[in-house]
Amino acid sequence: MSKRKTDVVSTSIEDINLTNKKIIEIKNNNEQFFMINGKRKTFNILTYGCQMNEHDSEKISGILNSIGYEETEDEKNADLVIFNTCLIRENAELKVFGKLGEIKGLKRSKPDMLVAICGCMMQKPEIREKILKSFSFVDIIFGTNTIHELPDLIYNVDFNNHRSIGIIDNTELIYENMPKTRKYNYKALVNITYGCNNFCSYCVVPYVRGREKSREPQDIINEVTKLAEDGCKEITLLGQNVNSYGNSLENKFTFANLLLELNKIDGIERIRFMTSHPKDLTDDLIRVIKECDKICNHIHLPIQSGSNNILDKMNRKYTKEHYLNIVSKIKSEIPDASITTDIIVGFPGETEEDFKETVDIVKKVEYDSAFTYLYSIREGTKAALMEDQIPDETKHKRFNELLDVLYPITYEKNRLCIGKTYSILVESVSKSSENFLTGRTEHFKLVHFKGSEDLIGQIVNVKITNVKTFHMEGVLEQ
Ligand code: SAH
Ligand code: SF4
Ligand code: F3S
Repeated sequence: MSKRKTDVVSTSIEDINLTNKKIIEIKNNNEQFFMINGKRKTFNILTYGCQMNEHDSEKISGILNSIGYEETEDEKNADLVIFNTCLIRENAELKVFGKLGEIKGLKRSKPDMLVAICGCMMQKPEIREKILKSFSFVDIIFGTNTIHELPDLIYNVDFNNHRSIGIIDNTELIYENMPKTRKYNYKALVNITYGCNNFCSYCVVPYVRGREKSREPQDIINEVTKLAEDGCKEITLLGQNVNSYGNSLENKFTFANLLLELNKIDGIERIRFMTSHPKDLTDDLIRVIKECDKICNHIHLPIQSGSNNILDKMNRKYTKEHYLNIVSKIKSEIPDASITTDIIVGFPGETEEDFKETVDIVKKVEYDSAFTYLYSIREGTKAALMEDQIPDETKHKRFNELLDVLYPITYEKNRLCIGKTYSILVESVSKSSENFLTGRTEHFKLVHFKGSEDLIGQIVNVKITNVKTFHMEGVLEQ
């Protein structure tokens, strides 16, 4: 079967500049503002949701920086506030609406401030309508595929004085070369696929992010090479299902092939990836993870449920047995690997027996950690229409029961690290004490230890001395 190659559009600010007089006008305007006021116009981005959104916010920052805006930590001082939204669960949406209420008050006292909303929520027409109708103070709406149009949209509000909306539904295009202002210089998020083809019955992502598209291998290799040249040590490859990377490419190139290429790039010391779908995790991939020194021995492998009946209703396309088989292969090939997961409790029709299967798989796999979620009805998905929705009370009861099993396992897995030395990429000063630093092992375990700030961004050896459920403590080894 011949596959259609995804079209790639270059959107570097230079590319846009050549053709776009509006950008030149905004830039000039912002420079004038700077000359008169001695400070630049500022923006603040409120980012909700996953790493995909975090990385999109880095692109938004890159675009705004390149047209003369400067980022501010405090939304109250910002000339432009941007909500980068998520709708994976109801509470993600509620958070956005709650914060919008707060910003409404701010906008009343600062009428010149621009308010923009983008991200996954804006990919849903019903939510867009609601914003247009009931949130008249919102000036700009754009989607996950129209980040590059932001300068145009700002222009329309600033110069034409009307609300501007930039949405492209179901785009097939990939936008390369967008400017990015990365949050960290020692670690970076790198898209490898966009969208999702899996249609898990509970999930909105395929509806809002469109079909799966893979970036060209050379574009990814070039980006990572440049990151390494700029001093980046750790990359995290992003895709809703990284294991199906390459399916939309004209020339056959798999995720394992990509990892082999990225492992060769000098300067990069750690390669992570998110997320692996169990149905597409191949033996070849396990071998590559084992053989490549830079690929972290950490696999995030969402199980969602341990019951075959529920997995089928979820449209996950694997069974508990298949999953356990992969886990045992990982454990025998890479004994040092940490395995983490996502679990949904209270999916429609989940019986007590089904739930026990989930508890059972948690015990069998002995996860290093897990993200646990209460099932949340998402309008437009198949599961939203299923009968036997589980009452909240039962969901909460099962959720707590699950944590009672999970946390002791997580703690025990951490306890096995006591006395061992791990290399840690130092990420920041610890939030709890300014004398302590925080970093992660290749297994994604959080470690706190005493050290000076200048170690941030370096990889150091730390011996583990004490552990808790969610972090470990250690001492720096010289
Ligand atoms: N593509 C990734 C995960 C994307 S969303 C994957 O397939 O693993 C992250 C997690 O949110 C999912 O793994 C799932 O556990 C959870 N999730 C998604 N939709 C949900 C819903 N409707 N209710 C509760 N949790 C949900
Ligand atoms: Fe959602 Fe499933 Fe796609 Fe993950 S694989 S984004 S859970 S539909
Ligand atoms: Fe991520 Fe939320 Fe969108 S989890 S892909 S930001 S719906």
